[in-house]
Amino acid sequence: MSNYTFPEGFKWGTATASYQIEGAVNEDGRGPSIWDTFSHTPGKIEDGSTGDVTCDHYHRYKEDVALMKEMGIRNYRFSISWSRILPSGKGEINRKGLDFYKALTSELLNAGITPHATLFHWDLPQALQDAGGWAARETAYHFRDYVEIVTRELGESIRNWMTHNEPWVHSMVGHFQGDHAPGLKDLKTALQTAHHMLLGHGLAIPVIRKNSQGARIGIVNNLEWIEPASSGIRDREAAARHDGAYNRWYLDPLYFGTYPRDMMEWYGSDAPKIEAGDMKIISTPMDFLGVNYYTRRIIAHDSQGNFLKCRQVRYPFMRPSDYEEWENNAEGLYRLLVRLKEDYENPELLITENGTPLPDEVGADGEVHDPDRIDFLYRHIGAAWQAIADGVDLKGYFAWSFMDNYEWCLGFTKRFGLIYTDYESGQRIIKDSGRWYSELCRSGTLHLPES
Ligand code: FCB
Repeated sequence: MSNYTFPEGFKWGTATASYQIEGAVNEDGRGPSIWDTFSHTPGKIEDGSTGDVTCDHYHRYKEDVALMKEMGIRNYRFSISWSRILPSGKGEINRKGLDFYKALTSELLNAGITPHATLFHWDLPQALQDAGGWAARETAYHFRDYVEIVTRELGESIRNWMTHNEPWVHSMVGHFQGDHAPGLKDLKTALQTAHHMLLGHGLAIPVIRKNSQGARIGIVNNLEWIEPASSGIRDREAAARHDGAYNRWYLDPLYFGTYPRDMMEWYGSDAPKIEAGDMKIISTPMDFLGVNYYTRRIIAHDSQGNFLKCRQVRYPFMRPSDYEEWENNAEGLYRLLVRLKEDYENPELLITENGTPLPDEVGADGEVHDPDRIDFLYRHIGAAWQAIADGVDLKGYFAWSFMDNYEWCLGFTKRFGLIYTDYESGQRIIKDSGRWYSELCRSGTLHLPES
C-alpha cells in the first residue's frame, strides 16, 4: 500500500436514512412513525419543517441510483422504514412496503451497486411507541420479528446488514435530552432504552444469519475521540466518564458482555434493569462494527455541568465551518480507529458515516463549489488510510451523505450531501465534492484536486 492507494476491494460508498430522504409518508400503506409525530409537533424542529416530502426519494429512487452509478459509487447504505413494512410495528405485513425495498434493491444490483441495509435508523412505528417504545422490553422482540420478515424477503438480494444506527443518539438524544423523537427527558428511561436496543440487536443476529446466507452483520455506533482538557486528575476523570457514557457503554456490552463498571456505579439507581441471559445475547458475535465519526471532543470537569459533571471545551482553533459543537478533527478519527483495534480485539470496521455540513449554494455557473468539504473528506480519508497502514482492519468508507436531506431536529438548515438537493424542484446537482469523491471511488487513490 503506497501513494495513498487503498487496498483492493476496499468498499467506497455513501449513506442515507429512510426518514431523511424518502418522503411519501402517507403512501402505499406506510404507518406513522415517531418522527412523523415529532416533526409535526410545533417547536421541535429548528425551521418547523417535516420529512413529509424531503428528497422525495420514494418516487425518485431510480434517478438517485442512476446518479450513484454515474458517480462510480459501488456501495450504498440506506435504512429500511419499519412502519412501511409493518404499519403498526407488528402484526399485519404491508406488501407494498416490501415491494419498495425490493425494487430499490434490484435497481441497485442492476447498476452494480452493493446494498447495505440498516434495519433501524430511529423511525420507530408510532404504535410501538404508544405501547412504551424501546423502553419496553417487548420492543426488542418486535424488532426481532420485523427483522425476520425483512430478511426472509430480502435476505437473498441484500447480504450486508446493520441492526441499529447509533443507539447512543436514539436512546440519549431521544429519551434523555429530548431533542429527537420521541422527545422524552429521563435518564433511567434512556438507559433502559439503550439496553433494549442492544438486546434487540443480539436477538436479530441469528435471525439474519438464518435468512441471509453468508451475510455480513454489524451494528453502527457513533463514536468520538475524547481528550481531557488538561492533565489534571479531575479533567481526566471527566473525560473518562464522557467516554464511558458515549463510547464504552455501547461497545463493552457488544464485545465483552458487560457494561463498564465505572459507569454502572456512576448511574447508580438509573442503571438499566438487566435480565439473566441478556448480556450473552447482546454479545452474540457479529462480523463488523460500523463507525460513524464526526468529531473529537475535549472534555473538562464541571461540577455545574451535565449529568456527567463535565462540559465540552471549545478552543479558538474550532473553525466557523465546524458544526455546532462538532470540531472537524481528522486526527481524532485515526486515533479512534487505532483505539478500537487495541481495546476491542482488532474488530473488522467500516466507517459507515463521515461528513460535514456547509452552507452550500448554487453558483451563477449552476454548480455547487464546496472546497471545504473536499478538504474535510481528504483529511479524514487520509486518516483512514493511515489507520489501515498501521494495522487497523478497516474495510470501507461511506460518506454522509449521498445527498442533502432532512437533518432531524435541524430540519433543512444543514446540507451534508455530495449532491445538492433543491427542495422546491427536487433537482439534484452533483457538488464539486461529489465529483472529487467519484474520482476516488473509481481510482481508489487519494489525492487533492488540482486547484
Ligand atoms: C448521524 C446520523 C445521520 C445524520 C448525521 C449527520 O448522527 O446517523 O442520520 O443525521 O448524523
